[in-house]
Amino acid sequence: LAGVFAEPVLAGRRVLLTAGPTREPLDPVRYITNRSSGKMGFALAAVAAAAGAEVTLVAGPCALPTPAGVHRIDVETAEQMYAEVQRHVAGQDVFIGCAAVADYRPAEAVAGKIKRSGADLKLHLVPNPDILAAVAARAEDRPFTVGFAAETDRVLEHASDKRRRKGLDLIAANRVGPGLGFDTDDNQLELIWDGGHRQLGPGPKSALAAELITQIAQCLQDDKP
Ligand code: CTP
Ligand code: CA
Repeated sequence: LAGVFAEPVLAGRRVLLTAGPTREPLDPVRYITNRSSGKMGFALAAVAAAAGAEVTLVAGPCALPTPAGVHRIDVETAEQMYAEVQRHVAGQDVFIGCAAVADYRPAEAVAGKIKRSGADLKLHLVPNPDILAAVAARAEDRPFTVGFAAETDRVLEHASDKRRRKGLDLIAANRVGPGLGFDTDDNQLELIWDGGHRQLGPGPKSALAAELITQIAQCLQDDKP
């Protein structure tokens, strides 16, 4: 990434991100999770730091090194991720929700291992808080709020609905499915914001991250120079 940012486009800005999956325990040895390598969020954190920002990264379990200059906070569950984001959101200029947050968690995590029986097993799941929507809904001290949308079909339509519903400044949509989006180094994104839309890639996640950070810096500059 060296050389990508000749200009420190985020100098003096503070950026908070979520990345990776969350893990919702069923019992001490099992959990429900989402498919996510964390690569896109970590690439964004690295690029934002290289662009001069003070970067805080709230990361679910992922096997990736902490990018240079990034303050990393490790969490497991969506509720923990929500709590850390709430703790750090004040005073941020940008929030990027890149994590694949589990939409539901088991109503209760069983203390001992669930034992096998011949019978069906029903899981009772309850909804997790929407971390991104909560940031976007802040009445005061609201950062420029960026979300992702992983969609299997009608990508643009679903993503622009999601942007409106959650009150986001910018959404980055990608098509996911067999061989697309997950655990790969390459990706393709469709950006939608108030002023327009734009396709990024296909290309390596690190290159897309650099382009997305440049676009965010441009929007910030237009908003509050
Ligand atoms: N997100 C979040 N907290 C949640 C669920 C999602 O912060 N509990 C964020 C993700 O990090 C992402 C965006 O919301 O930036 C969209 O996630 P996605 O799963 O595509 O949207 P949902 O609103 O959960 O809708 P659905 O899964 O039904 O498509
Ligand atoms: Ca979801």
